[in-house]
Amino acid sequence: MLPSDLVNYKKKSRKIIALTAWDSISGSIAEQANVDLVLVGDSLAMVCLGYKSTLPITLENIIYHTNAVSRPLVVSDMPFLTYQCGEDKAVEYAGKIIQSTYAKAVKVEGAEPEIQKVISRLIRMGIPVMGHIGLTPQSYLNIGLRKQGESLASQEKIKKEASILEELGCFSIVLEHIPDLLAKEIQNSLSIPTIGIGAGNYCDGQVRVTADLLGLNDDQPPFCQPIIQGKKLFKDKLKEWVDSERLN
Ligand code: KIV
Repeated sequence: MLPSDLVNYKKKSRKIIALTAWDSISGSIAEQANVDLVLVGDSLAMVCLGYKSTLPITLENIIYHTNAVSRPLVVSDMPFLTYQCGEDKAVEYAGKIIQSTYAKAVKVEGAEPEIQKVISRLIRMGIPVMGHIGLTPQSYLNIGLRKQGESLASQEKIKKEASILEELGCFSIVLEHIPDLLAKEIQNSLSIPTIGIGAGNYCDGQVRVTADLLGLNDDQPPFCQPIIQGKKLFKDKLKEWVDSERLN
């Protein structure tokens, strides 16, 4: 399976389902749950390492965690500062991820002119790129973690960015925390798949941070309802076991 195969899924209206993973257990759970794609997202900063944002994740961190994840179609996030400092560095760092892990693509946030140059260069150098627009957590110091695309101007900007990312050759685009109807319009206007998170049900696929879906976090994003209260379940069961062992 190659990143570009996802475009055929869209053509066949086959929904794309992606989950994040950060280690071998989460990777193999996601793979055995039959997802199409595993994203080693920099959200692992929060769900696995206890940071308050994604900014502390480094190139070495993402390579380390990508190597721990099993081997379906894996996409790795480009961490903060691995692509914001120009095309040469971005090619070197993305190349390192591809060369030293089983990732077959990288994900890059944003579509500003500087980022467009980076994306175009990465793709020309043989590194498939997944775009990511709407709420881009690496920009949270500027935009917070607020829903994007609420104003007409912001909607126009996001639509334009989506079409530019397609033109540049991205094989898919993550749409994060934007209005459902905006996501629908973008989904209809592109021939590459849109993968939504907090963007309604019209996208060609959905991605979730696995820890959010399993209720493993204390802080839950507003757009992800957990399917089980995993943290409470594990904690209660472990406490039961600890208490019973103490009595033995
Ligand atoms: O880092 C991440 O997990 C992501 C998803 C939210 C798409 O970028």
